[in-house]
Amino acid sequence: MDNLNIQTIRDEFQDMRDRSVSAKQIWQTFLSRNGRISEAFNRIGELESHTRKEFGQELNALKQEIQEYVDANQETEEQTPIDLLPVAPIEVAEERGHLSLISQTLYEIQDVFERLGFSVAQGPQMETEWFNFDALNIPVDHPARDMWDTIWVEDKTEPEHQYLMRTHTSPVQIHHMHNTKPPYRVIAPGVVYRYEATDATHETVFHQVEGLMVDDVTTIATFKGVMQMFFRHLFPVDTEMRLRPSYFPFTEPSFEIDIRPPGSEEWLEIAGAGMVHKNVLENAGVDTAYQGFAFGMGVERIIMLKHGIDDLRHFHAADLRFIQQF
Ligand code: DAH
Repeated sequence: MDNLNIQTIRDEFQDMRDRSVSAKQIWQTFLSRNGRISEAFNRIGELESHTRKEFGQELNALKQEIQEYVDANQETEEQTPIDLLPVAPIEVAEERGHLSLISQTLYEIQDVFERLGFSVAQGPQMETEWFNFDALNIPVDHPARDMWDTIWVEDKTEPEHQYLMRTHTSPVQIHHMHNTKPPYRVIAPGVVYRYEATDATHETVFHQVEGLMVDDVTTIATFKGVMQMFFRHLFPVDTEMRLRPSYFPFTEPSFEIDIRPPGSEEWLEIAGAGMVHKNVLENAGVDTAYQGFAFGMGVERIIMLKHGIDDLRHFHAADLRFIQQF
């Protein structure tokens, strides 16, 4: 074992200090429980008894010197990383954005239908006339085309090809039936376009959710059951629902679905629907032994009814006073 010598320990400390060894490591080497200082104290008994007292005092002095050095330097070392890392004030972090009311609602709708065994399909936003109209049993010159105010898109390289921004999500039915085999249980949420002036209840761009359920047993009773279950999830449970006869070229018979929230006098029109027209199944290449229903609803309209919002334009106004309420 080395001779017990304070100068050796001091030299070692000064050497580490000169090499800028970290304060933490110096503390470890000299001041920790198994460090040089404790070790020296433990060996005090090896010394001649008359030198022990002086040795103890010197050792204490050195210990204090090292401790002071560590205290002084540890602080700057610990502060360094904090100085380098910019940290956002908490108030800013609390104001992070969130999903828009439209996305929140789309996920909510998707969630309910997924529990009923539906999956989600998508289709293009720019369509041919055939997918948007003809395949859905709306022939050229049929007055029913006037139900939709269409935004046409010209392809300058191929002027004979005319496209349009889809006026509804119904063409996704056709894509889905084209691409997959029955049975079908699918919803298609998405953006649709109409050429019209904007006011409190009309926008050129808005969202719809289309639904399609086709197999060999689905009847109007199935349809009513599925829709009732859906609206009771989205609105208060004792919301009433009724079917009102209507007309759509792609369904026969066709209905409007109305709901009446508890305590309300008024019936509110919330979706168009019906049993899928034979011609639509044929156009999509599906055996007409299959049958089922389809529906389409305006997402913004549902949200407005659900949350008592009176103007469609709030959705796109980017006004935090509106956005932060949801
Ligand atoms: N596509 C219709 C519209 O935009 C809504 C609709 C009605 C969709 C009846 C359907 C349906 O699938 O069966 O006005």
